[in-house]
Amino acid sequence: MQYEANTLENHWLPFTSNRDFKQEPRLLVKGEGVYYWNHKGEKLLDGSSGLFCVAAGHARKEIAEAVGRQLLEMDYGPHFQVAHPSSFELARKVAALTPDGLDYVFFCNSGSESVDTAIKIALAYHRARNDGQRTRFVSRERAYHGVNIGGVSLAGMVRNRETFGAVMPGVVHMRHTWSPDARFTRGQPEKGAELADDLQRFVDLYGGSTIAACFVEPIAGSTGVLVPPKGYLERLRKICDAHGILLVFDEVICGFGRTGKAFAAQSFGVTPDMITMAKALTNGAQPMGAVAVSDKIYGTIVDSAPDHAVELFHGYTYSAHPAACAAGIAALTIYEKEGLFQRAAEMSPYFLDAVYSLKGIPAVTDIRGYGMLAGIDLATDGRPGVRGYDATKRLFAAGLHVKFTGDAGIIAPPFVAEKSHIDQMIDILRKVFSQY
Ligand SMILES: Cc1ncc(COP(=O)(O)O)c(C=O)c1O
Repeated sequence: MQYEANTLENHWLPFTSNRDFKQEPRLLVKGEGVYYWNHKGEKLLDGSSGLFCVAAGHARKEIAEAVGRQLLEMDYGPHFQVAHPSSFELARKVAALTPDGLDYVFFCNSGSESVDTAIKIALAYHRARNDGQRTRFVSRERAYHGVNIGGVSLAGMVRNRETFGAVMPGVVHMRHTWSPDARFTRGQPEKGAELADDLQRFVDLYGGSTIAACFVEPIAGSTGVLVPPKGYLERLRKICDAHGILLVFDEVICGFGRTGKAFAAQSFGVTPDMITMAKALTNGAQPMGAVAVSDKIYGTIVDSAPDHAVELFHGYTYSAHPAACAAGIAALTIYEKEGLFQRAAEMSPYFLDAVYSLKGIPAVTDIRGYGMLAGIDLATDGRPGVRGYDATKRLFAAGLHVKFTGDAGIIAPPFVAEKSHIDQMIDILRKVFSQY
């Protein structure tokens, strides 16, 4: 394909500085293993698994072939009142990975849709129990829950909210868990569990019986990898239990081995009532999201409807698309066969040693990490996000793809990365960060 001859004008790129990009495009045209290639034929290491999707590495033949086979056999089939067998197989595989008791899986097409789906399931669950006055939601500052109206309302990122007005009413935010005192902590900070008591304060202020659910990312990923303080998630669980509030873990980034176990719920030993997921569900090869819900939630909603009635008035044309299911089944089969979650757990100490070796570079003001996920803060140059964007471009030119949010770089290599790949990533990060 002749990329230079193509116009870049018509595509309005998401979350992108379009004017700047179109003057100096960074096109990715090929991926294989832990590498991308750009349109100039230059090879780049993928330091963020694309966008935290590609856990098993790029261009996995098994997934491509499964999707191709499925499209030739049956390209599309609706999932309203009819179904394709693959969705049941994928749901069974997902349920085998989620914590015990979260055995029912609702499919959608993205992380954003999984969050908005979970919001609606929470409302439907309470209504089915004649507890429908529970319409408030609790979320957290510095949260990212996607870009649909529900997820933006839960979000705690000002730039994602401020353009869009009042969004969904009835959402309140706990404080985030980042603390300057915990800078350069590896793993879970010792202090900060009491920040979970913000949820109790909302119970005291609004009444626990008005709150439907509390949403948190176990590790807040997009705002720079905020690892939960020890005891924090446990405390949220306790407060939720005391007041009939559902606890939802948004594991769109954490899920599928990123924390060393299938889900962060298992890594941190806290079981929520719902888990939202996407990204590595298909190794990024097809758009897909899902919500795993507890047996109690599924049973309550389904059993409360009259016979023959639709129980949940929610779903997408592409819910459980057969090609996405094929990709999901193939991806989960790879994770299992290659023991990739275990590999992530085993590689984590090496990865974190390497990332924390960047401490001492003057521009690096904090490092946080857990499993195969790390956040590195760069000192702002006075204009938040400008240095992070500049670093993205410099790293790209130096042969490394890394996702920045503001001035925080988020490092999340594919689990198939070798130690030598991690060493190369760190060398490039060191070289570029030392330029500031
Ligand atoms: C925790 C979390 N929730 C939701 C989303 C939204 O996912 P998507 O971009 O697939 O809509 C993301 C995306 O990064 C995420 O990190």
